[in-house]
Amino acid sequence: MILVTGGAGFIGSNFILDWLAQSDEKIINLDKLTYAGNLQNLSSLIDDPRYIFVRGDIGDIILVKRLLIEYQPRAIINLAAESHVDRSIHGPEDFIQTNILGTFRLLETVRNYWDDLQDAAKRRFRFLHVSTDEVFGSLVQNEPAFTEKHRYAPNSPYSASKAASDHLVRAYFHTYGLPVLTTNCSNNYGPFQFPEKLIPLMIANALEGKSLPIYGDGLQIRDWLYVADHCSALRRVLEAGALGETYNVGGWNEKTNLEIVYTICSLLKELNPHSNFHDLITYVKDRPGHDRRYAINAMKIERELNWKPMETFETGIRKTIHWYLNNQQWIADVQTGAYREWIDKNYAGL
Ligand code: NAD
Ligand code: TYD
Repeated sequence: MILVTGGAGFIGSNFILDWLAQSDEKIINLDKLTYAGNLQNLSSLIDDPRYIFVRGDIGDIILVKRLLIEYQPRAIINLAAESHVDRSIHGPEDFIQTNILGTFRLLETVRNYWDDLQDAAKRRFRFLHVSTDEVFGSLVQNEPAFTEKHRYAPNSPYSASKAASDHLVRAYFHTYGLPVLTTNCSNNYGPFQFPEKLIPLMIANALEGKSLPIYGDGLQIRDWLYVADHCSALRRVLEAGALGETYNVGGWNEKTNLEIVYTICSLLKELNPHSNFHDLITYVKDRPGHDRRYAINAMKIERELNWKPMETFETGIRKTIHWYLNNQQWIADVQTGAYREWIDKNYAGL
């Protein structure tokens, strides 16, 4: 079986659903259920014997040790993190705790477990650390996209904490020989993304007739990847990635924030011709230290592991909009916090 951390979040829940749609290998999901963890995303698995949920912190050494000994996973996919840049600006502490200290403690616990494995299990074991392109900092217009060799230059507390975790993962490979793999992925979008991030926030606000807040001039560029493509890249790296290597994952999809928001407005208008969503666009104060452009060169993973994204932005954004339109109760539960009441009731004492 495999152990996924942060599996109740956006990418984690997509990863678990995709994994179990293609494989009968069991999954344990270790998730602390912060505001970003939502078990409703995985409600279809409640009675599935291939899926085990454990509420807990990646930094809880006793708990993680117990899980490793009890379930003997052949791999760990580390998705648990604090992930939102704006939150990291308002309160960096949680980012340091989970992304740096939590990852460190997880690595330490995993190293002790791995050290004691028999030879065959030891050779087979993998620790896949999921990171971001934001560790590379900001590009100017026309500068080549990030390759794996680009120097780290993180600019926000979020990206700095992720960079620190990447360095620790690297050090555990070089110092202890822990069989690690790291992926650095660009901005994801798709089902189950918390409506604090650009794309779901814009869709949710537009559906409610609220303003669509564009930071600064809206000409910042991100490289967007549909979440199912990220999940397939993670499966591929886990299956065939070379130990100690890092792989950039991206969608070859550079767009300005304004382009994204205009596209969302136009697609919503196709479905609802009487509303003028574009009128909701509002320019607001820029984010401090706002990175201007991210772009991923994903040639290495294509060349070495034969992975390419399947979705274009045009197909992926349509699927995403349809998902949010069909799941307005999910948005409402997240916004009102109803899902948290459910979690508190169901997991009281855990
Ligand atoms: P998310 O915020 O939606 O989910 C994070 C999950 O981790 C939540 O379920 C939360 O409860 C859990 N968690 C937080 N702290 C924990 C802890 N200490 N112990 C156990 N669980 C904890 O994040 P996401 O967007 O799904 O991102 C997942 C990973 O992918 C993160 O490491 C992020 O840095 C990385 N990443 C995200 C993107 C993106 O665009 N979303 C892009 C590249 C990389
Ligand atoms: P976000 O989804 O927070 O991802 P990240 O900061 O990790 O790239 O933001 C994507 C881009 O959209 C980023 O340039 C900030 C911008 N943005 C807005 O203009 N308005 C918003 O309300 C949000 C949430 C983001």
